[in-house]
Amino acid sequence: MKKEKMEEKKKEENGFEPKIVGFCCNWCSYAAADLAGISRLKYPPNIRIIRVPCTGKVDPLYILKAFELGADCVFLAGCMEGECHYLTGNLYARDRVERLKSDLEKVGLGGRLEMFFMSAAMGKEFAVATTDLTERIKKMGPSPLNGGLGE
Ligand code: FES
Repeated sequence: MKKEKMEEKKKEENGFEPKIVGFCCNWCSYAAADLAGISRLKYPPNIRIIRVPCTGKVDPLYILKAFELGADCVFLAGCMEGECHYLTGNLYARDRVERLKSDLEKVGLGGRLEMFFMSAAMGKEFAVATTDLTERIKKMGPSPLNGGLGE
């Protein structure tokens, strides 16, 4: 068995449950998460939602702090492009996330930051996106800051 497969199997056996922090815009993805709940669409209990007025309000330091405090993954979920209630907040957030992704890659946290765009009506998409993200992080294992092996 290859080393990678052995490590993956070991992580599965350990029953690793990632802690995932999601900064969700009040106007769209927070409502989408709510809709998912109301519609009885399941999404993983690993997701800890922090409601923000706009993803443009999420300072990169908030994201770094979440990792420092034990998050295995962080995501931002904002309004669809062109639909931000503050016009360009989600576009600023998208650019910040892209820059931060490349910085995180350099310190061994690559693949642990994501951004989604969705409307309040996209409860199903919220459930699917967060489920897929959780599965991906389970395969990656714990954050190196939490004792994980890293990439
Ligand atoms: Fe939703 Fe700006 S108001 S991302």
